[in-house]
Amino acid sequence: MNVLGAQTMQRLKRLVYKLIGKQEFKTLPHNDFLLRLRSSVIGEGMLHPGNPYLMDLAIRKMPVGGCVLEIGSYAGLSSIVLHYLLDQRQRKEPLYCCDAWIYEGYHDSEAPPSNYMDGRPDVLRTDFMAHIKASFIQSNQLFCSRQLPCAFHMESDLFFEKWLQNTQENDVFGRSHHLGGPISFAYIDGNHAYDYARRDVENTLKHLLPGGYMLLDDSAKHQQFGSARLAQELTRHPAIETIQANPNFLFRKKC
Ligand SMILES: C[S@@+](CC[C@H](N)C(=O)[O-])C[C@H]1O[C@@H](n2cnc3c(N)ncnc32)[C@H](O)[C@@H]1O
Repeated sequence: MNVLGAQTMQRLKRLVYKLIGKQEFKTLPHNDFLLRLRSSVIGEGMLHPGNPYLMDLAIRKMPVGGCVLEIGSYAGLSSIVLHYLLDQRQRKEPLYCCDAWIYEGYHDSEAPPSNYMDGRPDVLRTDFMAHIKASFIQSNQLFCSRQLPCAFHMESDLFFEKWLQNTQENDVFGRSHHLGGPISFAYIDGNHAYDYARRDVENTLKHLLPGGYMLLDDSAKHQQFGSARLAQELTRHPAIETIQANPNFLFRKKC
């Protein structure tokens, strides 16, 4: 089925679910904090409501001995959810985050990218992303003060290079950390273009423990992103099991 066909099917499915009063994807049971969080941190539309359900599943079942890694943190919504779920499930694995804090414009593929924010020729992209990064720092300091994530301002390719070399790096909270080691669960939500998402997955797989989980954002069947095409390929990968599509794909490295 082509992308248009998949999108039409998705719309039809949504309509049928609405008519019969059912939710088309699974969510966590009602939780006051997670509900309030959506209006407390920038990025409301960036975290699909089905993702926390899959994150919780992965956190409950991930193998011990590794860390949790997030590629693409934006203003901190998903990192705070990951931190909260780790705490709720009494898992002690440290959370690492990596973001390049790059502004991705709506029309970058059509024309030479402008230096300004979409629709605002008076707001520089660099200023906007500095605001998003500052917001990540502030929100994590508020909601994750007991155990701040180890968060790095870096492109993911460089981050994985340094992870492989076990280098010592300063994070956005001004602390120094040793990079490297096994990964128990990775949430991949950086650049969704096919080549980038594939490198993030390949790099993660080098360090993912057997039985470790990988959640690929914007990978639902009906989506047009490279990450959705990649997810379809991963469903046929001999070393990977598909755990669930809700509607984004949760994978597990075979033992
Ligand atoms: C969709 S947003 C992440 C949203 C976040 N996970 C949330 O739910 O709140 C994608 C993020 O990926 C970052 N990004 C884009 N390309 C990247 C790259 N090559 N390496 C690391 N981060 C990247 C962007 O700066 C942006 O903050």
